[in-house]
Amino acid sequence: MSQPLNVRIRGTGSFLPQKVLTNEFFASYLDTSDEWIVSRTGIHERRQISGDETMCSLSVEAARRAVSDAGIAMQDIELILVCTATPETNIPAAACWIQAELGLPGVPAMDLNAACSGFVYGLIAGAQMIESGCYCNVLVIGAEVLTRFTDYQDRSTCVLFGDGAAAVVLSPSEQAEPNILYYEMGADGRRATDIWMPAGGSKLPASHSTVDEGLHFMRMKGRELFKLAVVKLEELIDRALSEAGVKADDLKLVIPHQSNLRIIELTRERLGLPPEKMAVNIDRYGNTSAASIGIALDEARRSGQLQSGDLVLLAAFGAGVTWATLLLRL
Ligand code: ACO
Repeated sequence: MSQPLNVRIRGTGSFLPQKVLTNEFFASYLDTSDEWIVSRTGIHERRQISGDETMCSLSVEAARRAVSDAGIAMQDIELILVCTATPETNIPAAACWIQAELGLPGVPAMDLNAACSGFVYGLIAGAQMIESGCYCNVLVIGAEVLTRFTDYQDRSTCVLFGDGAAAVVLSPSEQAEPNILYYEMGADGRRATDIWMPAGGSKLPASHSTVDEGLHFMRMKGRELFKLAVVKLEELIDRALSEAGVKADDLKLVIPHQSNLRIIELTRERLGLPPEKMAVNIDRYGNTSAASIGIALDEARRSGQLQSGDLVLLAAFGAGVTWATLLLRL
C-alpha cells in the first residue's frame, strides 16, 4: 500500500497543434474508412505538429498555461520533469530545451520515459520529491509527437496517434488531509516489443539501412495489447479503490489513458460507471501517449467538470509495457 502524500495539483495547462488530420485524410490514400476507424478505435480526428511546432514548443505553451493557472511566477518552479517517449533530441533531455525556453537556467530538468504511463509516473515522482522536502513547486509535463515516428503507409498504426502536450504544477498541500490517496506504478519489460521502435537507440543507431527498412517507425501488436490493456486497467482501478477504501460511486471522474475507445468503454462497463464519469478525448486527439491524461485533466478542470475537492482516478497503460494509477482529491 502506498503512503498518502500531502501534495496537490496547483495548476494545469495543455496545448494542441492547430493542424487536424481527419479520418477522410487516411481514407483518401489508404485501404481504410471513417467507419472502420471510428468503430474500431473511437477516433474521429487527431492533431499533428506543422511549421515550426515541435515537442518542445507544445510543452512550453502547456507549461506557461499551467504556471499561470497555478497563480505563481515561472521563477517559482524548482524542478522540471518531462514525461515523453518522443523527446526533442536524444541528447540533451527535452527538459533542458524546455527549461531554456521557460527562462529557468539552473533549475534541475530531466526526462522520464514510461510511454503512455509517463504522465502518471511523472506525477508520482514529482509528488515524492515534494513529500521528501526537496522541492516546493514541481512542473510535470507530458508531451508527445508520435506522428513523427508513425509510418503513414501502415494503416494499422497511422490512424491511431496524435500530438499534444499537458502540464501540471505540483505543490505541497496546505490541508490536513492528504490530496494523493493512493498510487501505483509497474512495468513488464518481457513485453518490450509489443510496442517499440527498433532503431534510433544505441543498440541500432540510424544508418541508411535502418532508414531503408523503416526501423524508425513505431511497431505495435495491437490485438495482444488490447486484451492486456482491458484486463490490466480493470485490475489497477479495482486495486486503487479497495486499497484507498473508496467506492467507484465516490469518484467524480476516471481519466484513463486514451488508446482505444473500446478499451475505455469496456473498463467503464466493468466498473459500472456512467459515461459522464469516464473522461474521453481520443475522439478529438487520438492516442497522445504521455499527454493524453494531462490534456483530459486540464480540459475537465477548465470546463468546470472537475472542481476543488473532487476525487479523480488516473489510470494508464502503455509501451514497456508500463502501467500506473493515481487517486487524488483536487
Ligand atoms: N482500416 C481498415 N482495416 C484495418 C485498419 C484500418 N486502419 N487497421 C487494421 N485493419 C485490419 C487489419 O489488417 C485486420 O485485417 P485482417 O483481419 O484482414 O487481417 C483487421 O482490420 C483486424 O485487425 P486487428 O488488429 O485485429 O484490429 P483491432 O480490432 O484489434 O484494432 C487496434 C486494432 C485499434 C490497434 C486495437 O488492437 C488497439 O487499440 N489495440 C490496443 C493499443 C494499445 O493499447 N496500445 C497501448 C498504448 S500505445 C503506446 O504506448 C504508444
